[in-house]
Amino acid sequence: MDILDKINRLRKRLNAVILAHYYQESRIQDIADFVGDSLALAKKAAETSADVIVFAGVHFMAETAKILNPDKPVLLPDMDAGCSLADSCPADKFKEFIERHPDHTVVTYVNCSAEVKALSDILCTSTNAVKVINSIPPDKPIIFAPDKHLGKFLMKRTGRDLLLWDGTCVVHETFSEKKLVQLKVRYPEALVVAHPECPEQILDLADHVGSTSSLLNFVCESSARQFIVVTEPGILHQMKLRNPNKEFIAAPSEDEGECACNECPYMKLNTLEKLASCMENMSPQVDVPMDTIEKAMEPLNRMLSLG
Ligand code: 13P
Ligand code: SF4
Repeated sequence: MDILDKINRLRKRLNAVILAHYYQESRIQDIADFVGDSLALAKKAAETSADVIVFAGVHFMAETAKILNPDKPVLLPDMDAGCSLADSCPADKFKEFIERHPDHTVVTYVNCSAEVKALSDILCTSTNAVKVINSIPPDKPIIFAPDKHLGKFLMKRTGRDLLLWDGTCVVHETFSEKKLVQLKVRYPEALVVAHPECPEQILDLADHVGSTSSLLNFVCESSARQFIVVTEPGILHQMKLRNPNKEFIAAPSEDEGECACNECPYMKLNTLEKLASCMENMSPQVDVPMDTIEKAMEPLNRMLSLG
């Protein structure tokens, strides 16, 4: 049987919803019920009436879906689909850090484990991070974790002084400033759009900085014809589908060799075959202990209630 037929039959049989992030390979995006950024996917997970959630994304995103749906199975096609930002912030070390700064409000980017979420006061994604920071009284000092580049970007945007955790994304920190400048010279009409997980010197070269959905909206609404895209190139699929007459150039990474270092090695672990297999076997499933779910639910709901 064709793999797409197989997934469609399983989806019906399980009454499952397939949620896919913009960084997933094109064929996964095409068969998903919903494709979105991490905030939109969390919202979809919160409101779904499906019996089973199939999360084509990375582990922390599937965990978020599980926190919002403790009674439903949440399937992840590959359990090793992690995230360097989540790995950079172990819960025990983060707890010690928070304890050293007890007067601080703890704002955590959703790219972290459920245990780290449970230690936080409020969560954010790159879509709502400015809003979340601005919701905290100006006299309250803030810890921001785990992405230091997003943190620096937020300091500039909000004028707030944030105490930063030293984490980075392996994909966004690898873009080459030199090659980006060369691309700008080669495509002088092109606008540069970049994700705020990139280092400051890359963001300084961008015409628009925002989350994956913000970058997508920007290129759809702009009258420009060419765009240099400085984020994981999976997003180019939706950009091209929605703008067949515009040109999108994926920004290269520092590496000169064969490695496609601008591709997220975790996101790309998921394949159509693994998607079918997890639905057929109802495994692997994301599991979060109930006490962690209860603690993580509060900062997550605080974020979602900001709208
Ligand atoms: P978005 O919230 O913009 O979808 O980003 C998620 C992510 O992992 C970026 O690397
Ligand atoms: Fe994590 Fe970076 Fe991959 Fe996003 S692109 S999932 S932040 S490693």
